[in-house]
Amino acid sequence: MTDRSCLAIVLAAGLGTRMRSDLPKVLHPVGGLPMAGHVMNAVGKAGADRLALVVGPDMPALENMAKVIAPGASVHIQRDRLGTAHAVRAAEEAIARGPDDVLVLFGDTPLVTPETISRIRQALADELDIAVLGFHADDPTGYGRLLEKEGALVAIREHKDATSEERQVTLCNSGIMGFKGGHIGELLAAIGNDNAKGEYYLTDAVEIGRAKGLKIGVIVGEEEEVQGVNNRLQLAQVEHVFQRRMREKAMLDGVSLLAPETVFFSHDTTLDPDVVVEQNVVFGPKVSVKTKARIRAFSHLEGTSIEKGAIIGPYTRLRPGAEVGEGAKVGNFVEIKKAVIESGAKVNHLSYVGDARVGQNANVGAGTITCNYDGFDKYFTDIGAGSFIGSNSALVAPVTIGEGAIVGSGSVITEDVPVDALGIGRGRQENKSDWADRFRAKKNYPKNSG
Ligand code: UD1
Ligand code: MG
Repeated sequence: MTDRSCLAIVLAAGLGTRMRSDLPKVLHPVGGLPMAGHVMNAVGKAGADRLALVVGPDMPALENMAKVIAPGASVHIQRDRLGTAHAVRAAEEAIARGPDDVLVLFGDTPLVTPETISRIRQALADELDIAVLGFHADDPTGYGRLLEKEGALVAIREHKDATSEERQVTLCNSGIMGFKGGHIGELLAAIGNDNAKGEYYLTDAVEIGRAKGLKIGVIVGEEEEVQGVNNRLQLAQVEHVFQRRMREKAMLDGVSLLAPETVFFSHDTTLDPDVVVEQNVVFGPKVSVKTKARIRAFSHLEGTSIEKGAIIGPYTRLRPGAEVGEGAKVGNFVEIKKAVIESGAKVNHLSYVGDARVGQNANVGAGTITCNYDGFDKYFTDIGAGSFIGSNSALVAPVTIGEGAIVGSGSVITEDVPVDALGIGRGRQENKSDWADRFRAKKNYPKNSG
């Protein structure tokens, strides 16, 4: 990898009208992370030491996202949207700091990889003054065409400005370009707007650079990697590719996916080797799973950590703050929120456990509910290690079940249960001899008639 200093400028001021959304286009998520965030992460991984984000004047949410993902990035506002070269000029303060190289990327092209960005950086380090990332398009309609003469790139022609002959060219501009820092200022200054859209096209830098005798070359990448998102259909296509990449990576890293195409990842999902994920599992943001844990079918997890050998599901919902300890079991139709299930504990059937601790090896019976909310505030339930909560109990928080205690099934527990005690909170059973027989006789119903 090159040690040349590198400024990456991510353009994201476009309105994205074809998304038909109140949300700026590049904030639409792929794998739970805004598209522009993917691009920012990729340039960071490719070693770009400075990052500049160009946004529109009315995009505070985008600026906030940048602060979280890349706190060192500078944010520049492009007031009028007059084209990609005009957008790059909005970041001229960052360019003026004199980086060796400048990369320009689009915030709506989220699948670009650090490896491809590194190839552009390397080409600039080796010989080129301008490097253009191109690709062979199945359908080139709408893309700028890379026009070559005797193997050299001579111009990029936008679709709208291209002749019908030029439109036959299938080698297209991905939009990602690299420049030697020393040249970009004069190139930008020379770009005009005499074209079909009346915009300042960054792509004109190629023709201008050639006239100046600069070395210009094309790096060819995969179409799949550089597909841009202009509408929700393309957003779904990009999500599809992203999910496939995540599945492939997980499996090559040693995770078993029993039906890979039915498992959905977040950008930050981390699964250790020898984790098994069954069919139809959804990972929301911030999930980590340690080795030998098994996520059984139809489970939905977010904001949760799962320790070694734990078994989750089938049909479990783990919400933010759920921490499942080593060898613990969380079973079918169980919802856990902001609760620690310590090692070896079991919550196996039909329960809600929220704002709670379930101590080591405790057993929470079927249908147990922690009543954590009074309509205004949330309260904590502490279930001691080795305790046993009988089925269909309601634990009304705040409440503590002592270590080793037993709660009788069907209880409504409103007071603490001491260590090793039995807590029962329900009506006592009464049996009335022969009552049923007398009742039937009164109704003239023979015995066992159904
Ligand atoms: C651009 C390229 C085209 C390439 C295609 C790849 C130019 C002139 N054209 O066309 O060669 O094949 O991408 O997808 O560069 N933006 C701003 N401010 C502006 C205009 C655009 O920030 O004033 C940003 C947009 O938010 C977007 C990116 O630049 O992230 C590209 O703009 P867009 O209008 O989508 O360009 P295309 O017409 O697709
Ligand atoms: Mg576009």
